[in-house]
Amino acid sequence: MKTLLYVDCCIRREASRTRKLAEAFLGNLPKGWKVEKVTLMDEPLLPLMEGGFAQRDQLLQQGNLKHRRFDYAWQFQKADAILIAAPFYDLSIPALLKVYIENVSVDGITFECDENGLRGACRATSMTFLTSRGGFYENSPDEMGSRYMEAMCRFFGTGVYRCIAADGVDMDPSKTTGILAEACERAAQAAKAL
Ligand SMILES: Cc1cc2nc3c(=O)[nH]c(=O)nc-3n(C[C@H](O)[C@H](O)[C@H](O)COP(=O)(O)O)c2cc1C
Repeated sequence: MKTLLYVDCCIRREASRTRKLAEAFLGNLPKGWKVEKVTLMDEPLLPLMEGGFAQRDQLLQQGNLKHRRFDYAWQFQKADAILIAAPFYDLSIPALLKVYIENVSVDGITFECDENGLRGACRATSMTFLTSRGGFYENSPDEMGSRYMEAMCRFFGTGVYRCIAADGVDMDPSKTTGILAEACERAAQAAKAL
C-alpha cells in the first residue's frame, strides 16, 4: 500500500472551490493508495519566531530529529506522493501553507546539505498542487503560487511536479461552474495516472 499525503489548505472548507478539485482527485485514486490527510486549518501551526525558533535551533544542534515538533516533516518525507490543495491569495499561496512549509523544511529530514549544496531527501515521486484563482494567471509573471510550489518540489526532491488550476473563477459567474468542471476532470485524470 502506498501513501498519498493530502495537505488540505482550503481555508473556506466546504465553501472552497479548490476543495472540489481535491475531491475529484481523491475520488479517482487507483487501487493500492491510502490517503493520510492533514487539514492545516485544524493544526497548531506557528511561524518560525521567538521561543519556537530557539527551540528548533537547539534541537537541530543536538541532532534531536525525533522531537514531536518535527512530526510534520517526517510525515512529509515518508509519503509516496504529495497532494496539496490551496487557493490563490495575493498572487501566491496562503500564509497558512507557507507556515506549514516552514514546519516541514527541516535539514536532515526533508532535505540535506553538504559541500555540494542542498539536496531533497523526500521519498515522494510526485507533487500535485491544486488551486483556484479569481483571475487568469496561466503563464503570467505575476503568478507566484504554483511557481513557488514547483521550486519547493525541486527543493524537497518530491519527484514530478504538476499543477492543476481553475483559472478565472471570480470573473464571470456564468462561467464558474464550467471552469471548475473542466479543472475537476483534469484532477481526476491526474489521479488515475498516479
Ligand atoms: C485573501 C484573498 C486573496 C486573494 N488574492 C487573489 C489574487 O491575488 N488574484 C486573484 O486572481 N484572486 C485572488 N483571490 C480570489 C481567489 O483566488 C479565488 O476566489 C479562489 O477561487 C478562492 O479559492 P476557494 O474558493 O478555494 O476559497 C483572493 C481571495 C482571497 C480571499
